Amino acid sequence: MVAANELAAGTRRQRPAAAAAQGQSAPVGARQYQNFLMQKLQPVAAATRLRRLMSTQPAFRHDPSDELAALCKAGGDPLRLSVLRVLASDSFGVLELAQIFAMRQSGMSHHLKVLAQAGLVATRREGNAIFYRRALAQSEQTGGALHAALLDEVDALQLPGEVQARIKEVQAQRSAAARDFFARTLEKFRAQQDLIAGLAQYRDSLLTLLDALHFPASATALEVGPGDGAFLPELARRFARVSALDSSPAMLELARQRCAAEGLANVELKLADALHDAEAAADCVVLNMVLHHFADPAAAMGQLARLVNPGGSLLLTELCSHHQSWAREACGDIWLGFDQDELARWAAEAGLVAGESLYLGLRNGFQIQVRHFARAEAASRT
Ligand SMILES: C[S@@+](CC[C@H](N)C(=O)[O-])C[C@H]1O[C@@H](n2cnc3c(N)ncnc32)[C@H](O)[C@@H]1O
Repeated sequence: MVAANELAAGTRRQRPAAAAAQGQSAPVGARQYQNFLMQKLQPVAAATRLRRLMSTQPAFRHDPSDELAALCKAGGDPLRLSVLRVLASDSFGVLELAQIFAMRQSGMSHHLKVLAQAGLVATRREGNAIFYRRALAQSEQTGGALHAALLDEVDALQLPGEVQARIKEVQAQRSAAARDFFARTLEKFRAQQDLIAGLAQYRDSLLTLLDALHFPASATALEVGPGDGAFLPELARRFARVSALDSSPAMLELARQRCAAEGLANVELKLADALHDAEAAADCVVLNMVLHHFADPAAAMGQLARLVNPGGSLLLTELCSHHQSWAREACGDIWLGFDQDELARWAAEAGLVAGESLYLGLRNGFQIQVRHFARAEAASRT
């Protein structure tokens, strides 16, 4: 407002000077000359004051009440509350959310924009795709307590049956897309894996980490997404019983052939989706180059952590963050690797404790991380 008044004053004071500039007769006498000069100089002074004000005052005033208002506005709509409820356990793209709520993409985009402006959802871009997830409440920021309370209340909401059914539909479409990809690329699978990071490149490091954990002979292992089963012989040699689940029938068939060829009698293969089918827990859960195929890797970590027995371990091999977007086409990757700290944070949120990690630089420029996360013994857990 101050700036606007100054501007108005400046405009008013410009009129006499403008008249003089337009050739009107100049005033005579000392006083008149002084007045004339003042009239000429006042606009300059006003402009200087205006410039000084503009350089010392921010263009937009930041008011914490704006943030609260945005939060209340975003939460003041039943559809947006339902979107937050749906995002409680998965992240979705705008098209998927439009499908889940049976509405147009443009309408859903509007609601997501309002939620994002209020800081209730966050996005992560992967190539052309943008995934929306719930943002965590920041307790120290304005609105943080309201944000946390809102999510608590939202979690108690019951989603309508048809919305739940469409969530399942979307998840089934994702699984089908992954299955199609691995079926289509079956022959090329190993070659494509090796383009980036094949088992041969990290097998020794993974075994070093695994053997250092000294599992008892009676321990069990579960491999999620074994692909063609190349790591199963190593697990079969070290554990009493091994189960392996993969959502791709084509991949599972390759794994079956390998188990048969190597006579692995203690390995049980299952066609199952690691995120949606029930599975018994094991002492050691292994996940090699699988996490980057999950749409919501943070939530997936939470689910997979539950498959680790107390006192057991999760061994995870993944790519570090990279920018080779061709990996999406060539290898069906959803995520271009992961930041090391981000993985550790997700594991901690899932109740796991970070153990040893190995990082391997590859000649092709990729970097692999082999990570160990432990689950506390039952007795020491509260
Ligand atoms: C890139 S391959 C890795 C295979 C093997 N671990 C390796 O490193 O060679 C990913 C594997 O995960 C499987 N997969 C992807 N999503 C899955 C899911 N939701 N549940 C179970 N398996 C899944 C795929 O079918 C595929 O066999």
